[in-house]
Amino acid sequence: MRRPKAAVVSGGTCGIGRALVEALVDDGYRVGFSGRVRERVEAVVTSVASRHPHRIVGITGDASLPGHATALITAVRETFPAWASVYVLCAGHGLPGTLTGSDPARWEALVHLNLLGAMHQMRECAALFGQMPEGVRDLVVIGSTVGRTLSDANPVYGATKVALHSLVEALRRERCATGMRVSLIEPGFVVSGFQVSAGYDPEWFAGIEREQGPLLRPEDIARVVRFIVQQPPHVHIDDVRVRPTRQRV
Ligand SMILES: NC(=O)c1ccc[n+]([C@@H]2O[C@H](COP(=O)([O-])OP(=O)(O)OC[C@H]3O[C@@H](n4cnc5c(N)ncnc54)[C@H](OP(=O)(O)O)[C@@H]3O)[C@@H](O)[C@H]2O)c1
Repeated sequence: MRRPKAAVVSGGTCGIGRALVEALVDDGYRVGFSGRVRERVEAVVTSVASRHPHRIVGITGDASLPGHATALITAVRETFPAWASVYVLCAGHGLPGTLTGSDPARWEALVHLNLLGAMHQMRECAALFGQMPEGVRDLVVIGSTVGRTLSDANPVYGATKVALHSLVEALRRERCATGMRVSLIEPGFVVSGFQVSAGYDPEWFAGIEREQGPLLRPEDIARVVRFIVQQPPHVHIDDVRVRPTRQRV
């Protein structure tokens, strides 16, 4: 019997991850996703399952801790059962402010999620993809434009993305010969839960939207990820920067 195609999204209860969960399910994938809050995870499962029963599984867990990717991929294997050939590393947080202006009490959690947690997910994903039957495997990592171009508004957050970007390319080089595609997406301003959870000043963000909007929506990023994973096995779109048309930097 042919096994269904399957995908995983870390941080899928809101924003870009949520849009990706919806898009991948619509494309026929069985999808596993995560979030920290049980009620939010259950709400996404209920909503998606009302359109596509038996295609979604959600786990409650912390993506900043080791074992997160393994738990997600295992949940998909046990539920459907299928090997996830797509892993989208989406869970991440922002932090407003500079080195001297941001809240140092929040640095550790930021680095734990955006960098250390991402490193564990990438490592575990590479190991599990290595055990999969032959075929193309995609690890898509959501970085940021601030990982490429210094942001005056949030360079501490940006530093986590600079480091993440370099690890994406390093893992791509290490694993490309095995057929694993490791891709980086660098979004500019996306209107999502990100601004509130990071604690960005709403007036500052409204000003950005007035000057440089319309800003991106999570669906705009989901469409790009979808395009990347749909490429034939010998084609790898490995790095995409997506900015609102009117975003200057
Ligand atoms: N929005 C932007 O302008 C923008 C621009 C460039 C890059 N990005 C990047 O895009 C990614 C997604 O951001 P977004 O805009 O979609 O933000 P969002 O709307 O706040 O969504 C973040 C998602 O991650 C989950 N999450 C947060 N911490 C988690 C943890 N420790 N463990 C598991 N899940 C966790 C959240 O779920 P719970 O809160 O339910 O746990 C939520 O589902 C991030 O990596 C971000 O850095 C965003």
